[in-house]
Amino acid sequence: MGKLIVIDHPLIQHKLTLIRDKNTGSKDFREIVKEMSMLIGYEITRDLPLQEVEVETPLCVTKSKSLSGKKLGIIPILRAGLGMVDGVLQLIPAAKVGHVGLYRDPVTLEPVEYYCKLPTDVEERDLIVLDPMLATGGSAMAAIKFLKDKGASNIKLACIIASPEGIKVVQDHHEDVDIYVASVDEKLDENAYIVPGLGDAGDRLFGTK
Ligand code: URA
Repeated sequence: MGKLIVIDHPLIQHKLTLIRDKNTGSKDFREIVKEMSMLIGYEITRDLPLQEVEVETPLCVTKSKSLSGKKLGIIPILRAGLGMVDGVLQLIPAAKVGHVGLYRDPVTLEPVEYYCKLPTDVEERDLIVLDPMLATGGSAMAAIKFLKDKGASNIKLACIIASPEGIKVVQDHHEDVDIYVASVDEKLDENAYIVPGLGDAGDRLFGTK
């Protein structure tokens, strides 16, 4: 089964409280989501491979570590995943960014792709899928399947809040995908909102409500 990593760092938990607050406006919400994404990205990149290199300090030549150049890709699920891109890119600016746009068909309730643009060498990259809210898991499942169909084999999922239902569905179907979250909330309501959650992350990021 894929690992579930709940990042209980005090800074992340404090920022989570701020974005849960319904009185936090879009400007602050965006800023805090970006900061949290950077902190989550720090945890996700913990296992990046290093190589030993020589470096000349002002005092002498020494051996030191540098990233060994693993190719990474960041894949926000539109639209709310966009809010997490800049924070992660700030840590790993060389990563390529692919976009996956999905909407829920009102009749079948299945996610349907409406826009997908990926790095051409997506199958060679370690991918970080971004979606702040892992609710039913429908979008994450569709995005992961889409990426695997394109040849991707090393995928991590980064969210801010997840429901137990969303985690279960991803873990049941994708045992190779680790999930990173700041919180596992209580449940989904009848409209598939996470409770207590933070409302609609896309609307809160982009001020569309
Ligand atoms: N998407 C959101 O933005 N919020 C939820 O609570 C569930 C899905």
